Amino acid sequence: MTGSSFITTTPLRERPAFAALAEHFASLRDEHLRDLFAADADRGTSLTAEAEGIYLDYSKHRVTAETIELLAQLADESGLAALRDAMFAGEHINITEDRAVLHVALRAPKGQTITTDGADVVPDVHEVLDRMADFANRVRSGEWKGHTGKPIRTIVNIGIGGSDLGPVMAHEALRHYSQRELTLRFVSNVDGTDFAEKTHDLDPAETLFIVSSKTFTTLETMTNAHTAREWALATLGDDAAVAKHFVAVSTNADAVAEFGIDTANMFGFWNWVGGRYSMESAIGLSTMIAIGPDNFADLLAGSHSIDEHFRTAPLTENLPVLMGLLTFWYVEFFGAQTQAVLPYDQYLLRFPAYLQQLTMESNGKSVTLAGVKVDYNTCPVYWGEPGTNGQHSFYQLIHQGTLVIPCDFIAFLHTLNPLGDHHDYLTANVFAQGEALAFGKTADQVRAEGVAEELVPFKVFDGNHPSSTLVIDKLTPYVLGQLVALYEHSVFTQGALWSVGSFDQWGVELGKQLAQKVIPELQSESTPELAHDSSTNELIRRYRAARER
Ligand code: F6P
Repeated sequence: MTGSSFITTTPLRERPAFAALAEHFASLRDEHLRDLFAADADRGTSLTAEAEGIYLDYSKHRVTAETIELLAQLADESGLAALRDAMFAGEHINITEDRAVLHVALRAPKGQTITTDGADVVPDVHEVLDRMADFANRVRSGEWKGHTGKPIRTIVNIGIGGSDLGPVMAHEALRHYSQRELTLRFVSNVDGTDFAEKTHDLDPAETLFIVSSKTFTTLETMTNAHTAREWALATLGDDAAVAKHFVAVSTNADAVAEFGIDTANMFGFWNWVGGRYSMESAIGLSTMIAIGPDNFADLLAGSHSIDEHFRTAPLTENLPVLMGLLTFWYVEFFGAQTQAVLPYDQYLLRFPAYLQQLTMESNGKSVTLAGVKVDYNTCPVYWGEPGTNGQHSFYQLIHQGTLVIPCDFIAFLHTLNPLGDHHDYLTANVFAQGEALAFGKTADQVRAEGVAEELVPFKVFDGNHPSSTLVIDKLTPYVLGQLVALYEHSVFTQGALWSVGSFDQWGVELGKQLAQKVIPELQSESTPELAHDSSTNELIRRYRAARER
């Protein structure tokens, strides 16, 4: 494993650029953004990057051009380019699962060649896309009929994690482009309430379930899928109805067949697509049904444009690399533990939730690819809400709290719903937030407003809070694809700097295993012998006691 050419074995803090960066940080840490802007009239236009229609203003970060140069040098010494090239070359960079990592192939245009294990995967990708398009068109047009001959009106995606969060996010983000006569619902939680509430007003005769699970073994998804089958058959009566009301998206054909779904109604993908990187594989079937195959193709094309940019642009002009370097900078040098993502577009409502799995399941690691425990912090907590809602909630802490919270603002020049002055007000707010965070308000400025002396300390804004502003024309399927790829490759960049494997997720296993042990202990008729810790034993006893009452 450790012989792979893309693994950097030199510990992070022993890489030559690290010492230079640490020295540079010491000289910059106490600089205020007010002074950095005052010293350089061009800062607001020079510390920016623009590519593929996306403008990234990073001038309100506590960096100089030298910081970016040094961070890029560190990325170079961390083997970012080699790792990136190994990914695109189909090498098994997911070393603990011995798999290639090729979500970039999901959006490769027909005719491009991407090879892994001796085979070009792009034709397979397009074969599935074509089948998805055929199916999506049949559902959208009403040609696909349910068991009783009625057309489908509601599509329920059953999946969790990567088989849910991307499709949910895309459904919200692309509502403007969706066929409004069709309703999409998403069931993910093993909590029966999720299924009950999402189906209580549905007619099984007009409902199509997409059971989405890479492994087709996930407890939540399989439990919900079985409940869905019982729910549908309770009304439709006949096992033959399954073929009209259930399709599957999976890499596991045997398990799909065992569940009773005809594999002719299965859309496959491959083990080189990680769950959290799968929304543009067949896992996006619900998205394609909602927005149609052409819009789905635009989504893929948008991601591909950023893949190409990531693959070819110099590191200091490379948007996802810059985003990743900045996140690394605050975690490593300023002790930042969180990163806020604040989209000023209501359609991006679920974008932060989607990013939580992408970022934290990827880089929430504490062992390097060489198998060594890290002695530095890795992935911050990603979180956020759409603007302006967050402003009336948690922004107080970002402005006047004690934590360093780098923010990504995402702003659009045009709205999809022009209504009066709404968009001007929205955009004024996002620009104002970045300004307020960076520059704050001094005690003298507060006094000049005539504020009583005893209130001055409360009304001071220290400022110097870092933010990026991404400015994009308007939210389209293409742009959503770009945003997805931007964050995917930012995650990749951060993983390379921290030398962690961004593509496995062993950390989710222990809880799953223990739950399997607890389930029979909750359900058994006879009193089980409990061998957990005293706390867990008591929790189980209390649940059992309540069941027996
Ligand atoms: O929670 C772990 C995980 O494996 C995620 O990585 C994945 O997205 C999710 O479970 C769902 O897995 P599956 O698609 O196999 O049901």
